[in-house]
Amino acid sequence: MIDAETMLDRIAAAENLGDLEAVRVSALGKAGSITALLKSLGSMDPETRASEGPKIHALREAVTNAIAGRKAVLESAELERKLATERIDLSLPAAEIVTGTVHPVSQVMDELAEIFADLGFSVAEGPEIETQWYNFSALNMGESHPARAMMDTFYLQPRTPDEEPRVLRTHTSPVQIRTMETSTPPLRIIAPGRVYRSDGDATHPPMFHQVEGLVIDKGITLGHLKWTLETFLKAFFERDDIVLRMRPSYFPFTEPSAEVDVGWSMDKGRRVVGGQQGWMEVLGSGMVHPRVIANCGLDPDEWQGFAFGTGVDRLAMLKYGMDDLRAFFDGDIRWLKHYGFRALHAPTLSGGVGA
Ligand code: PHE
Repeated sequence: MIDAETMLDRIAAAENLGDLEAVRVSALGKAGSITALLKSLGSMDPETRASEGPKIHALREAVTNAIAGRKAVLESAELERKLATERIDLSLPAAEIVTGTVHPVSQVMDELAEIFADLGFSVAEGPEIETQWYNFSALNMGESHPARAMMDTFYLQPRTPDEEPRVLRTHTSPVQIRTMETSTPPLRIIAPGRVYRSDGDATHPPMFHQVEGLVIDKGITLGHLKWTLETFLKAFFERDDIVLRMRPSYFPFTEPSAEVDVGWSMDKGRRVVGGQQGWMEVLGSGMVHPRVIANCGLDPDEWQGFAFGTGVDRLAMLKYGMDDLRAFFDGDIRWLKHYGFRALHAPTLSGGVGA
């Protein structure tokens, strides 16, 4: 028979929760001594069981209670010890939480999406590695077209001997084709994204950002183009005195084509958009060439449209006063801290797109 006194003494003597657990396992665990007693009840004759049963159950209860009691004592002692030894120094300065900023290019793309969404445009995308068909041919730039050389670019090694080399897209215009191919008009989209050209001077890095605009519908005219650009530039620069000048130009994929200039003026020694002291070129645009519409499987006698393209980086520079395009892509944290935007300051028309 187990010595109840010894067992209770061992419980009382347990110095920590680990020791106490060891006592519990030795008494009440699967192979514990009290467990064995409980099991032995089954093989006793009825009389012995009647006399031993209550004792064994009483022992189990006493041990269980003693363990619970000791456990509470040990736990509260542990808490007391922690309270006495651990301290939080509330006067210590909190660790700095470093938050990043939204790059001006991303910010301006968001502003564009916001402004054009209000005009019923959605955002379309295309790959940066393009086929020559989408980047050139479908846009009415045949294999020997001089405009291909003007947009000299990076060609990728073909993956198979008979594959035509693909290109890093030189403009966002291939998204026009992809959109016309996969959706049914009427269409209103903008397509912001990265483009590449094999330039590399101070004002022409080999990678920059453009935004394309495309409208395909019935009865679209140059008047719609001019109104859309004017409305967009007024909202973007948050000024009403935006004056536009359209100059005849040439792009293989628009006919007629127009270069769009915007009036500028001086404000605190800085050239800003708005007013009419001089002109600066901001956009290429035109009516989508019937051949381009036909290349996308649409009937050019039924559908017309306009397209435009402009530099996102340039728009950002004009609006936010950065003067060196190279700094955009240096990844200098100080520059980003200065010119970047707070992540939660999403542009809204009601709150101000450039808030
Ligand atoms: N893709 C032309 C460029 O990169 C710009 C453009 C777009 C012109 C759409 C007309 C229409 O220069």
